[in-house]
Amino acid sequence: MKDQVIIFDTTLRDGEQALSASLTVKEKLQIAYALERLGVDVIEAGFPISSPGDFESVQTIAKHIKNSRVCALSRAVAKDIDVAAESLKVAEAFRIHTFISTSTIHVQDKLRRSYDDVIEMAIAAVKRARNYTDDVEFSCEDAGRTPIDNLCRMVEAAINAGARTINIPDTVGYTLPNEFGGIVAQLFNRVPNIDKAIISVHCHDDLGMSVANSMAAVQAGARQVEGTINGLGERAGNCSLEEIAMIIKTRSDFLGVETNIKHNEIHRTSKMVSQLCNMPIQANKAIVGANAFSHSSGIHQDGMIKNKNTYEIMTPESIGLKNQALNLTSRSGRAAVKNHMDTLGYIDGDYNLDTLYADFLKLADRKGQVFDYDLEALMYFANLRDEDDFFKLNYLSVQSGSIMATTSIKLQCGDEEKCEAAVGNGPVDALYQCIYRLTGYEIALDKFDLTAKGEGEDGLGQADIIANYKGRKYHGTGLATDIVEASGQALLHVINSIYRAEQIAEIKQKSKMETV
Ligand code: KIV
Ligand code: ZN
Repeated sequence: MKDQVIIFDTTLRDGEQALSASLTVKEKLQIAYALERLGVDVIEAGFPISSPGDFESVQTIAKHIKNSRVCALSRAVAKDIDVAAESLKVAEAFRIHTFISTSTIHVQDKLRRSYDDVIEMAIAAVKRARNYTDDVEFSCEDAGRTPIDNLCRMVEAAINAGARTINIPDTVGYTLPNEFGGIVAQLFNRVPNIDKAIISVHCHDDLGMSVANSMAAVQAGARQVEGTINGLGERAGNCSLEEIAMIIKTRSDFLGVETNIKHNEIHRTSKMVSQLCNMPIQANKAIVGANAFSHSSGIHQDGMIKNKNTYEIMTPESIGLKNQALNLTSRSGRAAVKNHMDTLGYIDGDYNLDTLYADFLKLADRKGQVFDYDLEALMYFANLRDEDDFFKLNYLSVQSGSIMATTSIKLQCGDEEKCEAAVGNGPVDALYQCIYRLTGYEIALDKFDLTAKGEGEDGLGQADIIANYKGRKYHGTGLATDIVEASGQALLHVINSIYRAEQIAEIKQKSKMETV
């Protein structure tokens, strides 16, 4: 029997830390469901002490996720641990992950403590966490730059205090694969109680070595790998879990270990994370890049025709990439749309067939043929929309030329439909002025991106904006065959989120005043 490598996903914590606008609770739950289906063993859902929003996300995920262990991060501080436990207690079983720095530079210049103090803090934190759960993970932050004697002392103390997983992060992505594998090997040789814990690794990608370092650690005996989907994370990111999963599968002959990952979920999960996090994937990224399975040179193509094994070490189907021969048109029925979604691997809970079919028909009328990537884009977009959105674009007309543009719109504002027209230095500028006037919100845009979803000139246009409102950043997405309309949808997505947040704050304030 092969040894199991536990896959610990921190897309929603380390990955989310690096986004320009934080994810909503709904978006985080969507990703958590996808991770559960992917088969990750542990989902690090957030850092509950860091904000009320993070607390709520961890609590919501802990309530809904049943097949992966939900975990929350805490510093080695009593209050952090108590708040993490509070957010997780809705789950039947959960993990608390507590950490403190161990490298000399962090201990002296960041914590300004002695190493003995830091060991005492770690012991106290692990013991406190053990009061809430048996499943406690302890991380030695910046372990990659920690003198090995100090690291051994800390690991031994944390295990004695009750940590069942010891995580060795290369926090700044500094080590080389044989160096990092050597650190893990030394821990196995020198820490007397090492057999009482699982050794985990958490590598950052500053020098592009996070995956290689993690695999070197696995070869040295680590049995948990931490990382994120698409390698999201602080600075250059974390170790890409889809790469780890496919390395372990493809080279199981050499490695003799396995994971619980359902590999055919990789493609879909990666796309969802990229979409919701507004983080495009580079085309030549291993495993999930758009070119990862395409063969360009004539010699390669010739080899592939003769025998796929000449240039293919894993199949696109193994990560869930499927190409369907039949496309859909406005004459296709609901069953055909559902059948395509089934073949793409989506299940009923992933989307609402009524909404998807209605959106599909509108698109098919405009576009003729609808491709699988269109269906997926429609599904992601519908999942972002809320049926109870206060502001909805009912009508849009644009006149643009080489000098000025004029836009007129009808906007549903709750029960009322309002009209407005504006002139701008382009159609999007004119449209945004109409929306600002009708909604009463004036928003600063930090970023505005337009991308084509799909291929050819009749692909869908997607607009992504990062908006700044009263110091908080919001991500808005819009999708339409018309890029001006997509831009309007993206702004309305943001405005609806702000409006909803203000309504919730008002209700909370009222109930607070009533109880006083
Ligand atoms: O990179 C790091 O050291 C971390 C720890 C909190 C595990 O993210
Ligand atoms: Zn990290």
